[in-house]
Amino acid sequence: MIIAIDGPAGAGKSTVSRGLAKALGFLFLDTGAMYRAVALKVLESGADPKSEVQCRALAERHRLSFDAAGRIQIDGVSGEPDVRSKRVEEIVSAVSAHPRVREVVVARQKAIASEAHGVVAEGRDTTTVVFPDATLKFFLNASPSERARRKALEAGTPELQDAILADLVRRDGLDSTRLHSPLMRSPDALVVETDGKTSEQVIQSMLERVRARAARG
Ligand code: DC
Repeated sequence: MIIAIDGPAGAGKSTVSRGLAKALGFLFLDTGAMYRAVALKVLESGADPKSEVQCRALAERHRLSFDAAGRIQIDGVSGEPDVRSKRVEEIVSAVSAHPRVREVVVARQKAIASEAHGVVAEGRDTTTVVFPDATLKFFLNASPSERARRKALEAGTPELQDAILADLVRRDGLDSTRLHSPLMRSPDALVVETDGKTSEQVIQSMLERVRARAARG
């Protein structure tokens, strides 16, 4: 079974997807971590993030996988916490925008999913491009102000909520208008509004939908 989860930045996708995968005993396919891993290799090798040819060569050269806890592995070695560094953050969007990098990474995502008995795949193009035939698709949503509030809390900087909100609105605009794999709600995705709910409550409501779907066979 493949469950694909999409939604805007700050909707709680990663916490909820990881929790859902754990509750189901499925592999958590953190697609963003794979683009981060390619970006890390770009930094380490001194390649140019703007060079599609160089970035693609690195995506092809390194084997990306996940351990049982859903942590990214690069050539069998953990990529955490390096893939979350500020330097990776700065270039990952440029690296992930190259169509020929996406081609390699998406092929790898499909191969990983085909080997697992159950997968929860999280990422902006998982419901549309990577797994258009997923068993179940969710689009996690939250109002911009709620997303900014959560992000500010997470970062321990509640006073920056307004600045974070402005940044989220800007990123939403960039994400939905970019040429390759823009943020799009798949028409067959179940929309889950997460305002005012804890991640545990959101996971529970998604589990109910997964069970209902599994019961239908
Ligand atoms: O979700 P994240 O912050 O780990 O994503 C890291 C980067 O990769 C971010 O620039 C968005 C991009 N990304 C993507 O282009 N496609 C995906 N399926 C997941 C992430």
